[in-house]
Amino acid sequence: MSNTTLSVSAIQNGTVIDHITSDQTLRIMHMLRLLDKKHKVTVGFNLPSKRMKYKDLIKIEDHVLTTKEANEITIFAPEATINIIQKFEVVQKIITTLPPHISGVFICPNSLCITNKEHVESFFTVEEQGKQVKLVCRYCEREFDRNQVKVKVS
Ligand code: CTP
Ligand code: ZN
Repeated sequence: MSNTTLSVSAIQNGTVIDHITSDQTLRIMHMLRLLDKKHKVTVGFNLPSKRMKYKDLIKIEDHVLTTKEANEITIFAPEATINIIQKFEVVQKIITTLPPHISGVFICPNSLCITNKEHVESFFTVEEQGKQVKLVCRYCEREFDRNQVKVKVS
């Protein structure tokens, strides 16, 4: 554990999402519904990193992310490393892969899409185009940049 990352204190049990690309942290927090007061969360912004110029990190106490949640994060933070902590030790680093599709999480930006008119769960195919991640709506077939989609608030 390097001293720089300890600018946010170590946790006893839970999950640390490390090496988040700048500007994507708030989206990830909405996606994982980390503002709903069920979780004790600490966040570090613009921390120095050897691998990246700046990184953000999120520490969630007493909560272990599922592999599905970990993979969904890679849509926004492809370089994120996800560490499971038990008794102050890193016991697992989840290897993430971009999920082939994601349902129920985002709102389709096309206001005419059926998912915005009727009770239909959103469903996007996730496509990697070089360094870009695009989301294609199953229903209106339109393609969106990952930064265009908003997280559904339940
Ligand atoms: N961490 C924490 N609480 C602990 C142990 C680790 O918050 N009790 C955090 C560290 O601050 C770091 C992340 O979990 O942000 C991963 O820890 P570690 O693997 O020890 O750090 P690095 O070697 O820097 O990780 P990497 O190999 O991913 O660069
Ligand atoms: Zn749509």
